[in-house]
Amino acid sequence: MQDLMTKLIDVVLEEIVDGLSHRQKQLPSKLFYDEKGSALFDKICRLEEYYPTRTELMLMKDNITDIINSLGENIHFVEFGSGSSLKTRLLLSNMEKISTYVPIDISEEHLFKTVESLNQRYPDLKIVPVAADYTKPFSLPDEIRDEKNIIAYFPGSTIGNFTKVQAQKFIEGVASVTGKEGGFLLGADMQKDTGVLEAAYNDSKGITAEFNLNILEHLNREFNFNFNRSKFRHKAVYNKIEGRIEMYLISLEEQEVFSGDFKFSFGEDEKILTEYSHKYTPGLVADLVSDHFVIQKYWTDSNNYFALFFLKPI
Ligand code: AVJ
Repeated sequence: MQDLMTKLIDVVLEEIVDGLSHRQKQLPSKLFYDEKGSALFDKICRLEEYYPTRTELMLMKDNITDIINSLGENIHFVEFGSGSSLKTRLLLSNMEKISTYVPIDISEEHLFKTVESLNQRYPDLKIVPVAADYTKPFSLPDEIRDEKNIIAYFPGSTIGNFTKVQAQKFIEGVASVTGKEGGFLLGADMQKDTGVLEAAYNDSKGITAEFNLNILEHLNREFNFNFNRSKFRHKAVYNKIEGRIEMYLISLEEQEVFSGDFKFSFGEDEKILTEYSHKYTPGLVADLVSDHFVIQKYWTDSNNYFALFFLKPI
């Protein structure tokens, strides 16, 4: 019998081959986050030019009492992609009324590390981890399935990686988790000056370039590709019409790349799309969630760079 891990790799390989077979070649953004990529992302978060992480944390600190009060009592807190523990800790440290914390993460290893360290810091908190890909349907643990105040939490503007259709499908899944009586706390990066945005994704230290190119090393290691990363360069552009950063790897010359029997040809200057990072306005967020939620309240920083939305089911 084929083991689960092998099956998972096959499914992702299929996704990669499919993406590289499009006219506009593309790769799934989730492939950024191998061990090296996750460390590089942490480095990005500390860059001067990369404002989102810092801004989100600051606006939460500035409004923490108001945010916590909006969430209500006896909260069952469900976090989608629980990597960003700093923001979560800020909430947990200030919430007296939390009953259960349910971190959902695709990486079981990451998840168990988080639970272990949170257990030490918050000995009275009931933590029920769920190892799952939250972009696919999954079931909530029995402990909270019939509870009333389920608050979903999706910080960091990770929602920006989705296309509108993908985002709406994800939001539908969130709505089935919160039910009609819960809430949804959503972090989203705001539209702003092109210069600020492009600097954040083309940083002067080249960490984002390193992060982008690392996806090719990941493909070589896990999926038997033979990319030569020195034959590609990084570029991020802001597409103002679509309201999104588009991150590309650009082929420096004509070349062919293989994985097993698959062959992919690249022309000089041909681009591989590796990431969308959508930027929003409060109006766009209201529109995006409108099938399931309304904005009850939101908090932003003095520049309106980033916003945290509290959404109520309709
Ligand atoms: C983790 C998806 C929120 O879109 O800003 C950072 C990823 N890519 N620099 C983002 C990212 C390049 C980040 N998200």
